Amino acid sequence: MSVKGPIGVFDSGYGGLTVLKEIREKLPEYDFLYLGDNARAPYGSRSFEVVYDYTWQAVQALFERGCSLVILACNTASAKALRSIQRLKLSEFHPEKRVLGVIRPSTEELDKHTKTKHVGVLATEGTIRSNSYEIELAKFAPDLVVNQHACPMWVPLIENNQFDTPGGIYFIQNDLTQILNKDPKIDTILLACTHYPILIEQIRKLLPAQIEILAQGKIVAESLTDYLKRHPEIVEKCTRNSTVTYMTTENALIFSEKASSMMNDDIVAEHLTLH
Ligand code: DGL
Repeated sequence: MSVKGPIGVFDSGYGGLTVLKEIREKLPEYDFLYLGDNARAPYGSRSFEVVYDYTWQAVQALFERGCSLVILACNTASAKALRSIQRLKLSEFHPEKRVLGVIRPSTEELDKHTKTKHVGVLATEGTIRSNSYEIELAKFAPDLVVNQHACPMWVPLIENNQFDTPGGIYFIQNDLTQILNKDPKIDTILLACTHYPILIEQIRKLLPAQIEILAQGKIVAESLTDYLKRHPEIVEKCTRNSTVTYMTTENALIFSEKASSMMNDDIVAEHLTLH
């Protein structure tokens, strides 16, 4: 008998909530289990080995709680851990389970939106150093000029609620100026970190109006909907009672308060220790 369970959504912290929100709008009937590794965020400046270990611990925790499908709603984890988890762990230990990332669907969308063919990718140091976006885009859109820029201060500003302070705005403006100085022909910027849409108001005010900003929530929600249409054998393993459960590795009360305001909902999260 196959075990049924929720769809797992994982992020290093709060960022994946921006993806979960859009997924729920698109697929409201499904059950979801969100896990934020807030106690160990940010992942962006950590080594490949550490991000891989942390992500695999999180995925196993979601599998143990009945998830057959897990979305890594985190670019850093998708860039540094997804392929290895798929190749080394799933095929050997969990051939019936699936783990999906956010990079591939985002690159496809970037190519569709740009007219000048000059694009910007803003992400964590880990995602930029992995070169995942350049590598993915080179496969099917080799004519794109890809300008990557790491914004190492943005996730700490978000996790610590400092992004709307004068200091926070200084760092956001500084990074935006740097990427635009690299290439004035950029007409589309991808927020390739799921935390960054939390800054969307600040970013929009600081960027010229003609530059389109792409956030990943809707892109990932569309891509997941399409995946489920093509994979009825996975749909069969997902429960559908419209519930969401939230887990965090940090203090559950602090997480609940912030997640409630982000999701516009009354969230009571549970604490979980990963190891
Ligand atoms: N939100 C994650 C991402 O999309 C990671 C942020 C971090 O922990 O550095 O990359």
